[in-house]
Amino acid sequence: MAQKTKHIGLSLGADICWPICYEGLLKELDLAIPIGNDTLTFEVERMAIEPFSLTQHCKYDVVIDRLTHWYHTSREWIKKAIISDDLYVFNNPWSLQSMEKQTTYCAMMRLGMPVPETWMIPPKSYTESSDLQPTLKRYAKLFDLGDIGDKIGYPLFMKPYDGGAWVGVTAIKDRESLLNAYNESGIRVMNLQKGIVPFEGFVRCVGLGAQWRCVNYDPDAPLHDRYRMDTDFLSAEEEQRLIDITMVINAFFGWDFNSCESLLSKGVWHPIDFANACPDSQVTSLHFHFPWLIKANVRWSIFCAATDRNMKTDLNWREYFDIADQDKPFEEKLPEYVRIARQHFDIEHFEEFCEQHLGHLDEVAHSYFATDAVRCAIREKVEALYPDYEYDEFTELFWNRIQQWRQLQGGVGPLA
Ligand SMILES: Nc1ncnc2c1ncn2[C@@H]1O[C@H](COP(=O)(O)OP(=O)(O)O)[C@@H](O)[C@H]1O
Ligand SMILES: [Mg+2]
Repeated sequence: MAQKTKHIGLSLGADICWPICYEGLLKELDLAIPIGNDTLTFEVERMAIEPFSLTQHCKYDVVIDRLTHWYHTSREWIKKAIISDDLYVFNNPWSLQSMEKQTTYCAMMRLGMPVPETWMIPPKSYTESSDLQPTLKRYAKLFDLGDIGDKIGYPLFMKPYDGGAWVGVTAIKDRESLLNAYNESGIRVMNLQKGIVPFEGFVRCVGLGAQWRCVNYDPDAPLHDRYRMDTDFLSAEEEQRLIDITMVINAFFGWDFNSCESLLSKGVWHPIDFANACPDSQVTSLHFHFPWLIKANVRWSIFCAATDRNMKTDLNWREYFDIADQDKPFEEKLPEYVRIARQHFDIEHFEEFCEQHLGHLDEVAHSYFATDAVRCAIREKVEALYPDYEYDEFTELFWNRIQQWRQLQGGVGPLA
């Protein structure tokens, strides 16, 4: 038997708490996984940012990436390493670079999901360029924004077609506020979307590889209370529906780690924001759900590294469209999309792998999340975000919520 080391790279930015806990938990697990004739051990390393030759060898088997969406040197290094060295990375960087929120709306509509009525409007202003004036003079049609607003109906939301973190999102109650918001929207290209107001439920379904967690979300609460801690707010059927559509969209776009927002109105879950690849992973937002994220990250990264999972660089949407184009109701199409998505995530193989090789994860995590190392990681994150007179209070709050997770769920079972 040969001993082989698999290398996992962390491509990090301002992250503090989750890498500490990911590295700590992995160390406690002390893995030595027999695969074929080999015994695999795992090494985690934080990746440096530095100049690189395009022929530079990549030593990593898997990279967990937090930078691609804004730090282009790392993104280009990752793209090179996929092409040249078969690196596996969470998430497909080409797809992340080019698929905005608006594209996810289009995809979901084509597949038959109930996205609220959505329009795109040309921007209010432009950055000058030599072709701008001739282009606008010849082709930009005057339009009546008020008419579009009336067609969609109020309330509606104006939001950047490629947005995130609520930046530039405005709730609009009537024609006049629509015109005002547009006048202030600058050069950003906006979507107008029918408001699901009032809504009876707001769920963020976080997908990490072949694992999903539906979280009850309160958008009006302060940041540390938005992820609610109740876990029985959905019927089994609703939960499965939200997991299914998240799984399908994540497979469709090649996203391993993404969080999908849906709003409930009159018995229907409407997707409103499914383009959050690489979402918030901080203990200060996730608290009670944070251990789940760390465990899910460990499971999926170890599975991908140990099994040499192939990066799917071709998205192959035709498979989905062939189902979408059939003359039958969405309820009959969804299981077919799910079948493709389950294959994409290799779910049966993944579950078997976890059972066989990561059986001790629940127990180890249950102990690990009671350690001082975790408390220090929380403290470090809190100190980076809060004023100093709140350090103690918020460290205690997040720590207690993690202890609540340990008590309530025992750190064991599918929801853990
Ligand atoms: N169609 C909608 N109906 C009701 N609320 C919405 C709608 N679109 C956005 N919102 C509200 O605005 C917030 C931000 O919009 P979202 O599309 O999630 O953008 P971001 O990518 O910036 O998070 C949502 O969390 C929700 O509270
Ligand atoms: Mg959102």
